[in-house]
Amino acid sequence: MRLTAESELSKEEESLFELQDTHSLWNNPLLVACREGRLTVEDFQFLFGQYFAYSRSFTRYLAALMVNCEDDLHRSKLIANLWEEGGGTTPERRHSNLFRIFLRDGLGLAPEYIRFEVPTLRFVTEYLDSSGSRDIPFATAFLAIGTEGLVSRLYQDFVIGLRAAQIPDEKLEFFHIHIGCDDDHAETLMDMLRSARGMPHYASSSRRGVVTAMNLRDQFFRFLYRRIQERQGVA
Ligand SMILES: [Fe+2]
Repeated sequence: MRLTAESELSKEEESLFELQDTHSLWNNPLLVACREGRLTVEDFQFLFGQYFAYSRSFTRYLAALMVNCEDDLHRSKLIANLWEEGGGTTPERRHSNLFRIFLRDGLGLAPEYIRFEVPTLRFVTEYLDSSGSRDIPFATAFLAIGTEGLVSRLYQDFVIGLRAAQIPDEKLEFFHIHIGCDDDHAETLMDMLRSARGMPHYASSSRRGVVTAMNLRDQFFRFLYRRIQERQGVA
C-alpha cells in the first residue's frame, strides 16, 4: 500500500518504499505458510498470543516518538492518532482491546494468561527503543514506512491464513480495520518524515529506520515459525 499518491512521492520516499516492497520479510516462512493456508487454529493461538505483546504496546511506540518531536503541530497530530488508537470516547473500542476480543472470541484464548516468550519481549523492547530514538529521520521512517505503511499488506496475509483455518470473518474486525483504514495515521508519520528532510544523515537514517523495523519483524516472525514447527514436531 502506498500512503500517498505516487506523484506526490519524492525520489527519496520512492526508494524507501522500494526498500519496504523488496524486504525479505515478505518471504518470511510464517507469512508464506499463512498465504498458503498451512497454519492451524493452534498455530494462530501461539502466533497471535505472542503478537499481543507487540500489538497492545502500539500506543507506547507513538508516545515514544512524540517525546522527541519538537514540532507542536506534529505532536497534535500524533495525539489525534493516539486518541483514535485509544478508542476515542469509547476506550473499550481501543485497538488493543479489539485485538484482545479477537484473541478471546476468534481464537478461544484467555489473554490475561498468555505467557510471553523472551524473544517476544525483546521484540517489544527493541520496538520501543527504536521508536524513541532521538534520530528523528530514523524513528519516523521506522514507524511510517517500516511499520504503519506495511500493516495493510501484512494483515491481508494474516486474513488469508485465518480464513483458511476457518476463523469466521466477523471475528476479524481488528484486521479489517487496519487493512482498510488508519491511512491518516500513516500520513501524519509521513508528514513528519518529510519535514525531517533537512536533518543531518536524513537519507541514511531513514533507510536504516525502514530496514531496522522490517528486520526486527522478520526475526520475530522467524522465531514464531520455528516455535510453531517445534510444537508440530517438525523441527
Ligand atoms: Fe491500530
